[in-house]
Amino acid sequence: MKKIQIISVVGARPNFIKVAPIIKELNIAGIENILVHTGQHYDKNMSDSFFSDLELPEPDIFMAIGSGSHAEQTGKIMIEFEKICKKISPKLVIVAGDVNSTLACSIVAAKCHISLAHVEAGLRSNDLTMPEEINRILTDRVSDILFVTEKSGINNLKNEGISPKKIHFVGNCMIDSLITFLPKANNTMPWEKYDLKINDYMVVTLHRPSNVDKKDRLKNILQLLNALSNRIKFIFPVHPRTQKVIENFNLDFSTNFNLVNPLPYIEFIGLMSKSLGVITDSGGIQEETTYMGVKCITLRENTERPITVEIGTNVLIGDDISKLNQIINDLNKEKLHDKKIPEKWDGSASERIVKIIAKYLEK
Ligand code: UD1
Repeated sequence: MKKIQIISVVGARPNFIKVAPIIKELNIAGIENILVHTGQHYDKNMSDSFFSDLELPEPDIFMAIGSGSHAEQTGKIMIEFEKICKKISPKLVIVAGDVNSTLACSIVAAKCHISLAHVEAGLRSNDLTMPEEINRILTDRVSDILFVTEKSGINNLKNEGISPKKIHFVGNCMIDSLITFLPKANNTMPWEKYDLKINDYMVVTLHRPSNVDKKDRLKNILQLLNALSNRIKFIFPVHPRTQKVIENFNLDFSTNFNLVNPLPYIEFIGLMSKSLGVITDSGGIQEETTYMGVKCITLRENTERPITVEIGTNVLIGDDISKLNQIINDLNKEKLHDKKIPEKWDGSASERIVKIIAKYLEK
């Protein structure tokens, strides 16, 4: 058997979407690689359904780390991933995004003197209260190849003293997946399943600790949505983290909108694409809506993805959720028809990444 050259790491939902097209391209290029799943996300609808929707091969190694505090989760992943790296000693580890699995595996690769490639490098919210910001900064610091999705990332990395030779502006792998699967998503017409009509409903997702871990904040958001649901329909796939807070504090008073379990990828992108708009605190959804020309109202003070605000699809409303009311009143899909798509968000980011990796491996 040929020597494994690359380990690709996935752990949580957004990782699956970014890494799937890269695995496909690695296989086309004939580069020996294996897929390691840390198990940070493990529920059927947080993990398995993404593997089938994204046509990702079963992971070669499943670490089954599961949930825990940041230190527990990161530490457990590091201990197990070090064993894997020592056994396989690949030339390169690929990590994506900003979740705890990303950081944990990056530190291990760096300390094992294995080259590290970071997909979605350079994004900065400049908000160190976000665990993801810490994960991004530290991962980028120890990476050898940094793949950037938008130009702000190049400047951020240069400002932090990262050598320009390591930085590659390749575009966005999450958009590669979107471009691949959106036609199928729309063909399945998932809105019909929920009795919704095109352009006549909004999609809601919430999972950031800053929005869902504090009872009063979550209660205020849900109360406002409940009031708004008299004039607009919502579909709200609830993240398990959010679900726990809703149950613990008995916040399930919202009778007028669809609270559903986390949705499979294809169903979810189909629902977003035909919605009037999306209310979210996710990072990736800000990008997906930008590509689709759908209005995104982001319940955060800041974004590490400024291109989405510059282009105008994304609006940040921070703490002042009362602004939601006015923005929803003003929603007019027509305005967004003249949509602009960020540079290199063209479905070929993974191909560019694998070309750069192939050259790197030849060295
Ligand atoms: C994680 C990422 C976040 C990303 C999000 C995508 C970190 C620090 N956060 O947040 O950046 O945007 O994934 O969804 O890495 N749980 C389940 N089943 C699962 C997974 C989680 O029930 O399959 C519950 C557990 O109670 C767990 C909680 O959700 O404690 C939070 O999971 P965790 O992976 O720690 O963080 P997320 O909030 O999912």
